[in-house]
Order: sequence, then C-alpha cells, then structure tokens
Amino acid sequence: PSRVRVHHLRAMKERGEPLTMLTAYDTVTARIFDEAGIDLLLVGDSIGDNMLGHPSTIPVTVDEMIPAVRAVSRGTTRAMVVADLPFGSYEASPAQAHATAVRMMKEGGAHAVKFEGGAHLAEHVRLLARSGIPVVGHLGFTPQAENMLGGKRVQGRGNEAAETLMSDAMALQDAGAVAVVLEMVPRPVAARATEILAIPTIGIGAGAECDGQVLVWTDMAGMTSWSPRFAPHFGEVGAALYAATREYAAAVRERTFPRPEHSYEE
Ligand code: KIV
Ligand code: NA
Repeated sequence: PSRVRVHHLRAMKERGEPLTMLTAYDTVTARIFDEAGIDLLLVGDSIGDNMLGHPSTIPVTVDEMIPAVRAVSRGTTRAMVVADLPFGSYEASPAQAHATAVRMMKEGGAHAVKFEGGAHLAEHVRLLARSGIPVVGHLGFTPQAENMLGGKRVQGRGNEAAETLMSDAMALQDAGAVAVVLEMVPRPVAARATEILAIPTIGIGAGAECDGQVLVWTDMAGMTSWSPRFAPHFGEVGAALYAATREYAAAVRERTFPRPEHSYEE
C-alpha cells in the first residue's frame, strides 16, 4: 500500500472518512499498527511518561526522540510518521523549530512534525511549510504547558476560550498546518473547529465530530491499569503480557521449558 500523504488527509476529510492515529515509539509496535491500517503514527513526546520513566513530557529531549522516530519510520510502509517536537526544542524562534524539524526528518525519517501552540507559533508553521515540512498543530490541553495551565484540564470552556481556540486553529491553518490535534476540548467547540477548518481535526478527548481520533497506544491497548476518561481500553494487552510472563517463568521453574524441540541435540 502506498504511503499516506498530506493530500490524502484533506481528501479523507472531504469524503467524511475518519482518520486514525496512534502513538508509537518502537519498530515492533509500529509494524503492528501499520499493518492494521492506522493512517498516522505519532512519535509523541508522551514517550517520556509512557516509555522512558519521566514524570511528564517536559524532560524529553530531541536526542531521546530521534532513535524512537527512526525505529517507527523503519517499521512502517504505509502510515505517515509524525514526530513531536519536545518542550524547549522549537518555541524560541521559527529557525529553532526548523532546525529541530530537519533533524526529525533527516535523522529520524519523519514525514511531518507536530508541536503545541496557536497563533503565536504561526510564523514557525509558515517557515516549516515553505521549507517542505508538513506541520500538525496541537491545541486545547497542551501537556508541555501544564505548569501554566494548572494541570491536566479541559481547555476552551466558555465563550472567550472557545473563540481563542478558533482563532488559534485558523492561524495555524492560514500558516500552512496540514492538520490540528485537539486535546481535551469540549465536544461542541471541537465540532465547530472541525466545521470551520478545511484541514482535518484529530481529537483526543474532544468528541466524535472531529475528522479523526488519536490515542496513546498504551492506553488504547490496556497496558496500564489507569488511563484517562477519554482513552478506553480496546484490549487488555497488559494483562495478556503479564499472563504470558507468568507462564514462561513457571515453565522455567518447573523445567517444562525448554522441551527437546526447542533444543539442538548437536
Ligand atoms: O505525545 C502525544 O502522545 C500526543 C498525543 C496525545 C496527541 O501529543
Ligand atoms: Na505530545
């Protein structure tokens, strides 16, 4: 199957065909998600709290992201690979964002980048778009700003906040963004953004009217006992992995593994 590209995203929106997106951080899962037909794989800075043992996304560095981006892009043939720009690697200037995005593409093999923020980053988006780098925006609850936002909270509640979100979304679109993630936004606000934008919205905790949905794969697959309200388990892979591990350990202890067929007689 041929690679999902930027023009497919808009075409899918126009056809009313939902876009599917999941995070991925390594080759083994990226292969599974790619074969299962996920359209966009996000190497999220959520690698920090989900894979690297950081307390949040804030400590994640570009040098931690790049090997994960490379692993995911090597594991895909169809999905568009989107690399998150981590906290501190893009905000200061369009040139900084450009330099980091170029590393994600050249060293990581990403096809697009994503970063958090609205109108104040329009010039960043514009420079990247003109340089041939597709940008996915990220509005609503933006985890890198949790210290300013007062924790994990729904954003865009109330008329003023909703209007700010709309104008941020429009600013990103006008600057050349190819899609925008809406995280923890009231459903009617996300629905209106989806209606007024020509580019697709990809929701997480933002309701069913978005053009697509994204989840952190460890939430989606039930790798952890707790996950947020907007991220139900579509499977219990964590429990399955635990059970397999117990079976293996028991078989070793009981000497029922390895069997003759698992061994080399000479
Ligand atoms: O890093 C991440 O996983 C994300 C998604 C939740 C959109 O940014
Ligand atoms: Na992220």
